[in-house]
Amino acid sequence: MKPVSMIVGTGHSAPEKVLTNFDLEKIVDTTNEWIIERTGIRERRIKSPEENTSDFCTEAARQALEEAGMAAADIDLIIIGTVSGDMRFPSTAIFVQAKLGAHNAAVFDIAAACSGFVYGLTLADAMIATGQYRNILVIGAESMTHMTDWEDRNSCVLFGDGAGAAVVIPSDGERGILSTYLGSDGRLAHLLYSAGGGTVAPATHETVDNRDHYLKMAGPEVFLHAIKAMSKSAQKALDRSGLTAEDIDMLIPHQANIRIIEGTAKRFGIPLERVMINIDRYGNTSSASIPIALNEARKSGRLKSGMNCLMVVFGGGFTWASAIVKF
Ligand code: COA
Repeated sequence: MKPVSMIVGTGHSAPEKVLTNFDLEKIVDTTNEWIIERTGIRERRIKSPEENTSDFCTEAARQALEEAGMAAADIDLIIIGTVSGDMRFPSTAIFVQAKLGAHNAAVFDIAAACSGFVYGLTLADAMIATGQYRNILVIGAESMTHMTDWEDRNSCVLFGDGAGAAVVIPSDGERGILSTYLGSDGRLAHLLYSAGGGTVAPATHETVDNRDHYLKMAGPEVFLHAIKAMSKSAQKALDRSGLTAEDIDMLIPHQANIRIIEGTAKRFGIPLERVMINIDRYGNTSSASIPIALNEARKSGRLKSGMNCLMVVFGGGFTWASAIVKF
């Protein structure tokens, strides 16, 4: 099958401020050794009160546009995967449109938790297939530390902030998105969520006192589902593309836990030198995880022209997604 769309520019941005495991030792009952051994994370970037999700999006998008040789005015659609945007409404994409000056674009956010970027990429591919859109900016961005409970050692060591972006245009017939796969299971929403501020737990003194505005997670259960869903999802994308794991030159897995990354790579017999890993420096940046890793893989020269890249992700909802892209 000929690809319909392709990625011609990427970028990423993360806050300057670094929070190390040693910093966390001073906040909760944890150790650097425990965090490294159980998660693979050494440090993460955390936003300052003045920084907003749209700021990281805008910087990542500028880099992606520059590489693509495009002006903001050329963009006709902006899709942002985020669950920690600037406001409850309007969308974060609205603020990014204004900051970029992408005034010819239609814009919206999608809420698929960590899977947001790959959901967005799938949507961009489909929108280009309609023939009605040509130059699409897909962004995954989060300010996860905004909803981090700094008293919960089970979750506060895991997350970080940032954004990654990709410019998607019609394929040249050779390169591009070879297949995608999306999945969800709403029966498992209670394992990873943040209720505060929604209709379930509107912002009141009581919901604030209950810490309802923070992220809640059943870590070990999420872990088991993540391994299963990532494997199933990657296999579906392989089947749809007609490729096998041996054809994959680079695996970009969601950076949630080094043990989930290694388990997924092992399941497909992909050696770790063909796996993009940056969880040690960023932690889990949710929907920004895949596009940050993608940009680092491309800009470092590891992911080269002609290579097949498999992206696979899993997140709250639960949601999962995968995409195979020939660069
Ligand atoms: N420091 C030290 N000890 C900690 C700790 C921390 N930061 N967090 C948890 N522990 C403790 C637990 O309290 C538990 O102690 P106990 O046995 O006395 O009760 C012990 O470590 C083992 O906890 P457990 O939950 O079994 O550890 P784990 O190996 O499953 O690792 C996670 C915990 C959260 C790292 C792991 O389950 C995980 O990564 N889950 C998936 C999370 C995820 O990916 N979420 C986002 C999805 S997109």
